[in-house]
Amino acid sequence: MFSTTQKIGILGGGQLGKMLCLAAAPWDFKTCVLDTSADFPAGPVCSEFTPGDFKNYDDVLAFGADKDVLTIEIEHVNTEALHELKRQGKIVHPAPEALDIIKDKGLQKEFYRQHDIPTAPFELFADEQALLDAIQSGRWALPLVQKTRTAGYDGRGVAILRSPADLDTKLLKGPCLAEQLAPVRTEIAVIAARNAADQVAVFPAVEMDFHPEANLVEQLVCPARISPLAEAAAEALAEQVIRAFDVCGLLAVEMFLCIDGQLWVNEVAPRPHNSGHHTIDSAVTSQYQQHLRAICNLPLGDTAQVQPAIMLNLLGDEGFKGPVRYEGVAECLALSGVHVHLYGKAMTAPFRKMGHVTITADTLEAAFEKADFVKKTLRVRS
Ligand SMILES: Nc1ncnc2c1ncn2[C@@H]1O[C@H](COP(=O)(O)OP(=O)(O)OP(=O)(O)O)[C@@H](O)[C@H]1O
Ligand SMILES: [Mg+2]
Repeated sequence: MFSTTQKIGILGGGQLGKMLCLAAAPWDFKTCVLDTSADFPAGPVCSEFTPGDFKNYDDVLAFGADKDVLTIEIEHVNTEALHELKRQGKIVHPAPEALDIIKDKGLQKEFYRQHDIPTAPFELFADEQALLDAIQSGRWALPLVQKTRTAGYDGRGVAILRSPADLDTKLLKGPCLAEQLAPVRTEIAVIAARNAADQVAVFPAVEMDFHPEANLVEQLVCPARISPLAEAAAEALAEQVIRAFDVCGLLAVEMFLCIDGQLWVNEVAPRPHNSGHHTIDSAVTSQYQQHLRAICNLPLGDTAQVQPAIMLNLLGDEGFKGPVRYEGVAECLALSGVHVHLYGKAMTAPFRKMGHVTITADTLEAAFEKADFVKKTLRVRS
């Protein structure tokens, strides 16, 4: 429904919430944000800010009471309250049933198995000792990837165990899963959107390059440098996955394109995603506007890419902690097609996500050249 008076409640006031609010502004949509501090990125740009904890049942329930549509910018919210709000007749996207599965990487992997969605072979373990026993007995062999079932993000909660020494230093505690190390050729993400009328639209695949130390996406390339066949298969897989989860809104599907050409789903996020930031500056429809269209059951926007794009996360420089100071921004803005987005975080810390830059050009080669300049020039210090 298109309505400038309906209230859209967003759980979480981080950068994704901020960009969602900004996308809602041209349509005069009322954005209401729940988070612990109005100093967080979305605070200054939302229509209405409610202080509270999105992990707390009572806070979420009270927040939802006068909202028409509820959505999230982070998965780790109180879903019991969302179930209750849905029972009361509120529109909740993504569905809390899907959130319950997605929040737990163990349930997520079992979901893929049940729905014939290709994913790395895996096993769930009660704790790290059970995994060690499985390695001891020869049922699992190194290398393998261990993941904690809940509360992992930005690579925390993921351990790539290659050698026996890693078992002493890298093993993660608690309920976990082990999965095969994927023979990755290219890591990609495909963002799908679906509305209540069951319309589905899929953005072109993006290629994700990881920062070796921080295990954060450092650079993202769109279009992904993969074959047209792999591109078509990835887009079809993303559509299959969003329909399987039965969610409305966005679903970002992270995938491994393996050396043999197979696609494996790594994990999903039912919300705007880091791998879709470039769409603000390089696609007909941004992922944020697409999310709003999808949760309000409006026609989905055109997902076509207008220009090739490279997205760089602006991470706090190593060795700097405190009030943030950006260096080299003006020099970067002197280049055409350099789009700087800062998130409004007052304090920097090593590898903290402070903003991003999207670089567009007529060709990817030209975009890479400008991206190299931006990487060298733009610094996040204190
Ligand atoms: N089975 C695997 N094989 C190879 N690499 C893997 C595997 N699982 C995870 N990785 C690597 O570790 C990264 C982080 O894993 P994953 O996406 O599951 O964790 P996360 O903490 O939820 O990440 P984020 O929040 O950054 O998306 C992946 O993007 C990939 O580079
Ligand atoms: Mg991930």
